[in-house]
Amino acid sequence: MCGIVGYVGRQAAAPLLLQGLARLEYRGYDSAGVALLDGSGFCVYKEAGRLSVLAARMNGGEGLPQTVGIGHTRWATHGAPTARNAHPHLSDNGHWAVVHNGIIENEAVLRRTLREAGVVLRSDTDSELIAQLLQREDDGDVPSTLRRVTAQLEGSFALGVLYTAQPERVYAVRCQSPLVIGVADEGVFLASDIPAVLPYTQRCVMLQDGDVACLTAEGYTVYGADGEPLQRPLQETAWEAEQAERGAYAHFMLKEIHEQPEAVAATLLPHLQEGRVTPEVLPLTAAQAVALKRVVLVGCGSAYHAGMVGAQVMERLARVPCVAEVASEYRYRQPVTDGDTLVVCISQSGETADTLAALREAKRLGARVMAVANVEGSTLAAESEAVLLTRAGPEIAVATTKAYAAQLAALYLLAVRLGVMRGTVTPAEEQRLTAELRRLPSLIRGLLKTAPQMHALAKRLPPLTDAYFIGRGIDHAAALEASLKLKEISYIHSEAYAAGELKHGTISLMESGTFVAALACDKALLTKTLANVREVRARGAWVLLLTAETVEEAADEVLTIPAAEPLFQASLSIVPLQLLGYYTALERGCDIDHPRNLAKSVTVE
Ligand code: G6P
Repeated sequence: MCGIVGYVGRQAAAPLLLQGLARLEYRGYDSAGVALLDGSGFCVYKEAGRLSVLAARMNGGEGLPQTVGIGHTRWATHGAPTARNAHPHLSDNGHWAVVHNGIIENEAVLRRTLREAGVVLRSDTDSELIAQLLQREDDGDVPSTLRRVTAQLEGSFALGVLYTAQPERVYAVRCQSPLVIGVADEGVFLASDIPAVLPYTQRCVMLQDGDVACLTAEGYTVYGADGEPLQRPLQETAWEAEQAERGAYAHFMLKEIHEQPEAVAATLLPHLQEGRVTPEVLPLTAAQAVALKRVVLVGCGSAYHAGMVGAQVMERLARVPCVAEVASEYRYRQPVTDGDTLVVCISQSGETADTLAALREAKRLGARVMAVANVEGSTLAAESEAVLLTRAGPEIAVATTKAYAAQLAALYLLAVRLGVMRGTVTPAEEQRLTAELRRLPSLIRGLLKTAPQMHALAKRLPPLTDAYFIGRGIDHAAALEASLKLKEISYIHSEAYAAGELKHGTISLMESGTFVAALACDKALLTKTLANVREVRARGAWVLLLTAETVEEAADEVLTIPAAEPLFQASLSIVPLQLLGYYTALERGCDIDHPRNLAKSVTVE
């Protein structure tokens, strides 16, 4: 999705803005632009395609002395990804420059009104309309002008705004799309998310919905909905700049796969004490836990897949009906929900539009809501009754790995705790399960050693057009995530199936050389899944089997996963399959960290 940066300070803005935009590249974009401001007005640079094109045109920012500016990476929604449609957009009189993230839902009405008023629009975007509206509403008082304009906008948006009459200020507006202020020694930064400001500062302010902020070289002021200044405290983020650096790794994805032991340990360990899961992970009283009628785990993409695993683990341990739901479906389904329903919203960014909408719907319906989120201070965290933080650190690759691993860990904690509170997990069982949880980081570390084997396998596989991942129970939930990993970065069509479901249609696609990865890590289901493996092999499929048991000649390649608690096996089986996805994409020459059409943080519905 689009990325916003802004800077006002004592240094030249252009190189800082270009560096900030580079740090937002991972969000996904197709054009980019920068506006610089000083007493003589704007300098605007916009280019389609990679940021390097813009940086080359600006000569890396060399010789551009302005100390105030805004920048943007655009992920096209309204209008093609051309330089003309790239941000920043200027008002007709050239007094306002705007960068925008999000979607203006009433853009057709606004466009017609502006056209009827004689305004000549220069782009196809909804974003330019904001600049034109600012010109129309301009009364010299920028916060109040911004308020009157944003009152006319429907949808979710974040804005960075410059005004020629106040050339030493950057303005920002947040409405359901994240914005962060970073306060550094060299000046004050604005950004769509924390990694963009980390090289300069760990002191951040997370703006809240409805906030209008004014940034100067000395600091910032935030105005609330009533126009009065309000306190938005500076927070010190635990994230560090080098966590958002690629280091010696070829790709962020590979680095983040290797960071999984630490991400899982950091998520688990604060909540494991003397063989128990600490009570604060779950915001329920004993009576509420016992009275609970259902748990719904909601998320998008891999977060939903983590919920699929979590629902099975929780239902087995806490003996309460648990389901995982795609967030974009939950909100429109009119789900049966009441105060005895716990809705757990899972999100790395804490800003995914559909997950936020599901959270708000669950609250409206009276459910208890909590978040499993990776970004402290994110909207999801702020709006939930309680937050269980995944401590994966900043995740940059679009294809999530360590955040997914940390989400699984967090959901295990919730499952064990809920079981304890409901009396379905005995103290002895809690001791055993927490000991198993403590083993996970080192078991995951061990599985990272499969990297050469997975690379060799990726090289050996025939040119694939399709792939299938099968498994039962938790293995099926893990298969969904493994399939998504391969698909999203290598562009190979891939599907995941409950192994028993394959013969109800999809088996007709099996032919000589079809690639099937079979996950059979749950010992109790091994013989059943092996039967499914035999079925597809009989039709010519080439099978990679993952199992925690010793099975001879059951498949074309067998990968033995260390035996652990079956409930937690998804944390292990996914690791070699993430690596397989990574190396397959590598062999195909794909742009692994920036897969086409995808965005890291999906802040529109
Ligand atoms: C995008 C990302 C996925 C992620 C999903 C949900 O599609 O590419 O990796 O799983 O959004 O994101 P969230 O931040 O809510 O976990």
